[in-house]
Amino acid sequence: MNILGEKGDIFSIKADVAVLPVLGGKSFDAAILVSVLPESARAVALRTLKNIEFAGKAGEVAVVHIPNGAQHAVLFVGLGDGADLSLEAIREMTGHAVAAARRLGAKVLTIKVPTFDNDVAAVVEGMVVAAHLADYAFDTYKKANGAKRLKDFTLVLENGRDLLKARKAVERGNAIASGVSIARDLVNMPAHVMTPSALAEAAERIAKEGGRTMKLKVLDKDACEKLGMGAYLAVSLGADNPPKFIHLSYKPERPTKKRLVVVGKGVTFDSGGLSLKPADAMMTMKCDMAGAAAVLGFFSALAQLRPRVEVHGIVAATENMPSGKAIRPGDVVKASNGKTIEILNTDAEGRLTLADALTYAKKLEPTAMVDLATLTGACVVALGEEITGLMSNNDDLAGAILSAAGRAGEKMWRMPLEKRYRSLVESDIADLRNIATTRYGGSLTAGLFLEEFVDGLPWAHLDIAGPAFAEKPMASYIGKGGTGHGVRTLVELVEGM
Ligand code: BES
Ligand code: ZN
Ligand code: ZN
Repeated sequence: MNILGEKGDIFSIKADVAVLPVLGGKSFDAAILVSVLPESARAVALRTLKNIEFAGKAGEVAVVHIPNGAQHAVLFVGLGDGADLSLEAIREMTGHAVAAARRLGAKVLTIKVPTFDNDVAAVVEGMVVAAHLADYAFDTYKKANGAKRLKDFTLVLENGRDLLKARKAVERGNAIASGVSIARDLVNMPAHVMTPSALAEAAERIAKEGGRTMKLKVLDKDACEKLGMGAYLAVSLGADNPPKFIHLSYKPERPTKKRLVVVGKGVTFDSGGLSLKPADAMMTMKCDMAGAAAVLGFFSALAQLRPRVEVHGIVAATENMPSGKAIRPGDVVKASNGKTIEILNTDAEGRLTLADALTYAKKLEPTAMVDLATLTGACVVALGEEITGLMSNNDDLAGAILSAAGRAGEKMWRMPLEKRYRSLVESDIADLRNIATTRYGGSLTAGLFLEEFVDGLPWAHLDIAGPAFAEKPMASYIGKGGTGHGVRTLVELVEGM
């Protein structure tokens, strides 16, 4: 979809559908609303709004057909109460507008940019991101693929002064949405296609986008063995598809002193291994590389946005499969930092891959380290399907991520790395065990396990097991399947650094 910023009168721009966002609550007045329409449409419009009791509430949509207009129809879309209008409400409105336009079979859309806090750039960026994400479809395997996509989406500003700002925001929104969409594609691709090697190839394509500023290193099994990555490689033993350790780096021309390392869990399929998952729990486990997908999507956005911070992206990609070669419950392995781990449940494999990924990341001497991982079902039990659990050993970093997530419109909530629970991951025969002695607080004990591999460096762990994959739509602009959750927060984070 091609997105443009324009100034002027929305009714003079040719389109299939013109979208008018409408504030609800006290500011709602149907008569004033229809007064902006061409004369010939006003009476019908007023009747339509009355009939469906349209009041500008969030999610409400009214379609008014315009006889002989520059557009076939006008869509009134509710923003919700004007008293608590938020950026998220604007994104939601945009998602509803795109969905309604698609239902009408419209291809060319114009939409009026609502004024909000006078922050035109943030509003436009939010609308652009939401429009792209709402228009997203994973239809590679469908006969009628691409059929429903919109063609043009023009954001119309009343105030010409803001046009330059708006156009820059359109560029930014395009870059961010493209990163999120890449992440969604990677997650949605079936696991027999999106193998560790395929993930490494995707990283290669992204590194090319970055030109001179980006480099890619892929370590194969032998190279990982040399580095002593016994925990990560243990997970890969049962799989026929070989593991690939991915290291992407982005170095801008005039970098600041900050260095961010992001680590993504890249289990391309999690069967549970010999501690096999039940069939129902396995159905969506192609999503277990969503952390890796977010890292790759983020890098694609970096290639276009080019912030002044050096960034590294690390993914220890592997499958987790059962076989005669697979690790057994009770096996003991040694991670690359020298710590030994008793593996008591082969389904707690994410933390094993991350143990070596974080050890590798640490050597890059980051000023901040962030991992994203579909790590525990317990996190979904605790926070539900739409909220990420954040754990961190550093209040400043945790605060920066929470505020970045807030701006980006991704929901995150901090959980504690409670020291008293640390003993729950101590093993009788090794330094650590990969599952705690209790199932209570499963996300926290997973976080505490990871903390053993960061040596006190500023680090945050994002357990994205809930929001990484939507089994039902997560917003008007995020449908089922891979969500690309994390990409938008990482962009906000790096730009705030
Ligand atoms: N990949 C799963 C976690 C997961 C669950 C992600 C649901 C997305 C949705 C992870 O590897 C896993 O299996 N964790 C176990 C840990 C347990 C054995 C301590 C879990 O959550 O049950
Ligand atoms: Zn697992
Ligand atoms: Zn897993």
